[in-house]
Amino acid sequence: MLDLLNSIESEALAALPRAATPDSLESWRIAYLGPKGQLKSAMASLKDVPKDQKPAVGARLNAVQKSLTDAFESHRLALSAAPSASGAASGPLIDPTLPALLHSEAIGRSHIITRVRNELVEVFARLGFDVADGPELEDDQHNFVKLNIPPEHPARDPIDNFYVDRPGSVATPRMLRSQTSTVQIRVMEAAVKNGAGPPIKIVSPGRVYRPDTVDATHSFMFHQIEGLSLGRGVSMADLKTTLLQFARAYFGPDAQIRLRPSYFPFTEPSAEFDMMIALRPEQPPRWIELGGCGMVDPAVLTMCGIDPEIWTGFAFGFGIERLAMGKYKIPDIRMLYENDIRFLEQL
Ligand code: DAH
Repeated sequence: MLDLLNSIESEALAALPRAATPDSLESWRIAYLGPKGQLKSAMASLKDVPKDQKPAVGARLNAVQKSLTDAFESHRLALSAAPSASGAASGPLIDPTLPALLHSEAIGRSHIITRVRNELVEVFARLGFDVADGPELEDDQHNFVKLNIPPEHPARDPIDNFYVDRPGSVATPRMLRSQTSTVQIRVMEAAVKNGAGPPIKIVSPGRVYRPDTVDATHSFMFHQIEGLSLGRGVSMADLKTTLLQFARAYFGPDAQIRLRPSYFPFTEPSAEFDMMIALRPEQPPRWIELGGCGMVDPAVLTMCGIDPEIWTGFAFGFGIERLAMGKYKIPDIRMLYENDIRFLEQL
């Protein structure tokens, strides 16, 4: 019996290194350690062993079982740690969804327009403005009518475009908005509806679309940041102060601004907002138009359900690309959309 146990042990240990796959290892286990394996059948013959030899044989049986079980375990661990020859999924688990350990420059970053948008929101947040959002697909009421631009108004002409529905074919044809001023209307309507205001003080950054021919300063799609501040006794002086504070916060303490009389249907009085900016480092700064502003027209307030005898407000809308070009000295708006890595890497 002891000879039998010795030969089972040596045969099993000799066969183990040849079990190089999980399947053959399992066959090995079944052959030697399984319920019908060689050790179990040896155990069954224990009853035939003479009584005086039983303790020694039993001890040897336990020892062989332990040595085979230990050998099996360590071989199993070694197999699972080694890369399998077939490349199958064995070995330590690797989570391919975890971020790789790369240098941060190689990972990428937000586009310059996104960064400028965030910077602008941040500056206006410090001046007390909340952030509002509005849809890019708009209707006639919000893009035009409630901004005091009725159907026959000539101010529609340069921006009446990009319809998604054929005008006349549906009750409210949708169009790509041509200005973020639409969000002024949406915010005022919502504030009146849910009783949240006025006072209202928001900025709203977003995309707008116009039938403009592309050149160094124009694009058919660009970004604006809209502002609206509505309260009791809000005046043109508040508008100019806010714009000066914004300009100094974003462009530095020497920033120069200028308001030029202008016309927008939804503000009265209206002004263009210019800043002294050099778009190329080698050029002297000059006045660059960044957008429009003014005091919200009483007709607009009335259409939104706000009493213009109690509430007054100012509004503004600036081109984010223009601000980015001024801040980062980008001479051509097209550079912002071409996605040329040599340009983007410099910002
Ligand atoms: N929406 C105007 C445009 O796109 C810009 C503008 C002018 C916005 C005056 C305003 C404003 O809020 O008060 O040309």
